[in-house]
Amino acid sequence: MCGIIGFTGYLDVKNVLLEGLEALEYRGYDSAGIAFFEQDGIKTIKTTGKVSNLIDKVEKNGNNSTCGIGHTRWATHGGVSDTNSHPHTFGNVTLIHNGIIENYHELETELAKQGKYPVSQTDTEIAAMLIDSLYHGDPMDTIKKAMSQLEGAYAFCILFADQPDVIYCLRNGSPLVACQSKEGSVIASDMVALIKYSKEYFVLPELHIAKLTKDNIEVTNFDGEIVIPQKLYVKWDMSAARKGGYEHFMLKEIHEQPSSLRSTIMPRIVNGSLPDLSGDGIPDTIFDDINRVIITACGTAMHAGLVGRVLIEKLIRIPVTVEIASEFRYQDPIMDENTLVITISQSGETADTLAALRLSNENKAKTVSIVNVKGSSIARESNYVLYTHAGPEIAVASTKAYTAQLSCIYLLALQFAKAKKAISDTECTSFIHHLQQVIPAVEKTLFLEKELDEISSHLKETQDLFFIGRGIDYPLSCEGSIKLKEISYIHSEAYAAGELKHGTLSLIIEGIPVIALATQANVYSKMISNIREVRARGAMVILVTNGDIALDSSIFDYHIALPELDDMFTPFTTAVVLQLLAYYTTLHRGYNVDQPRNLAKSVTVE
Ligand code: G6P
Repeated sequence: MCGIIGFTGYLDVKNVLLEGLEALEYRGYDSAGIAFFEQDGIKTIKTTGKVSNLIDKVEKNGNNSTCGIGHTRWATHGGVSDTNSHPHTFGNVTLIHNGIIENYHELETELAKQGKYPVSQTDTEIAAMLIDSLYHGDPMDTIKKAMSQLEGAYAFCILFADQPDVIYCLRNGSPLVACQSKEGSVIASDMVALIKYSKEYFVLPELHIAKLTKDNIEVTNFDGEIVIPQKLYVKWDMSAARKGGYEHFMLKEIHEQPSSLRSTIMPRIVNGSLPDLSGDGIPDTIFDDINRVIITACGTAMHAGLVGRVLIEKLIRIPVTVEIASEFRYQDPIMDENTLVITISQSGETADTLAALRLSNENKAKTVSIVNVKGSSIARESNYVLYTHAGPEIAVASTKAYTAQLSCIYLLALQFAKAKKAISDTECTSFIHHLQQVIPAVEKTLFLEKELDEISSHLKETQDLFFIGRGIDYPLSCEGSIKLKEISYIHSEAYAAGELKHGTLSLIIEGIPVIALATQANVYSKMISNIREVRARGAMVILVTNGDIALDSSIFDYHIALPELDDMFTPFTTAVVLQLLAYYTTLHRGYNVDQPRNLAKSVTVE
């Protein structure tokens, strides 16, 4: 979703902003703009389309401006146009914004009474108008007054025309991270745009204001008291945020999975046989009185949750429900202090997931989050957090974060089962052994890349496609389906294989591709029957099995044999196959793999 960068310091700000916006491109956007101080005032340049269009518009003269703000916009209020792009200026105020001002219409009506009207259709311009109308030379006082009138989620970076070389920032709900370096003060919507300047950073606390000057960032709370935010460090560097020789971020991230799984799993195993979440500060006592589990998340993270449900119910025999976070809080969910709510989020900033977490906290449920981004809102607001150590994930289609989320769910479920004495020591040791086996198995699965590229070439012209699976293969079908459709734009559906005949079988006609996941021994023969049902209607079947098992060659067109694993652990290898199928199908169709249309990496609005 919208990207934000602000800089004041000792470098040519135009370069800093444009580089920052390029780093933020992955978040998904449809227009871009920058504003910076020049000798005669603030200059703004903005355009629809890619950052490269903006770069073409920016003069490369030596005019050394050193303070400014930049933005990539993902349209919510008002269509995609140059006018609606950020930055927006009204009077003394020029600003950029991520989020949604929910009461913009009421504010607009009030401002109209003062004879003030916007030129764009955005909620952001109304915020600029409001701040300008409150401004009488004291930015801090103005911002506080504005904050008390603005409703919704937001992050702003503001330039006041009469306060050269200073950037004022505030946030409520939408993320902002900042760092100080010898080159100057930098603020951004995520770490990817800061890493060039420093590995040490802080998250601007909610409802706080940051004042950036060349050599200092001062953070104050709503009462005007200076606050020193906690320092955080990232382990990765610029090279992790670059493509590192791969054609796309998605392919790079698919290939990083053995390493991201190793980093996520191995530190949480002691003596080679026991799970250990003490380093994460998760005591066994949190499981004591738990009698039900709710997993809530969005998109791919929710699909990781669906695998978690199967696993926790199997190991611990307590009921688990998986709730789409955007629906959760409107369903009056049943929970209390005996409920464990697990929220899963790569970014840790997804607005719906955050709202679901807040509701769970209000209801006194025990909350544990599985999050990739350190210090993110979901991580900070959960009772406990289990970080995935997947490193930065740039491609919109989530890959390495998904398998890292799975590995955290497996560890959490095991710890839970152990605490509840639901499994024996021998079973625990065996589980850990199988979990460790996942890492070399994922490595081997990556060797199937060429084969999957070839198979994908046969999906190039497809309009509709089905994924089917039973048991734990059903959540994987859901994940395979979202992965494929979000980037290749092929319509696809995921079906529990046994359910197909209750309707959707009518759509199976000659040549329709069906990706059949048959990795589970307990439902294998049932699955084969379901495959025969689609085969009898002419489907082109791509069959995925756990290991290279003997098959009747009349039931498939293509067979993908995964490296053999214990059945409970095949989601890891199956996921890699489905990711590669989606990746290569998209390449064959000629679409932008890393930045699919209309999608954003981190959805910070409801
Ligand atoms: C967006 C992304 C998906 C992601 C979902 C949840 O829709 O495009 O890839 O799965 O958000 O994001 P989160 O950061 O909460 O995991």
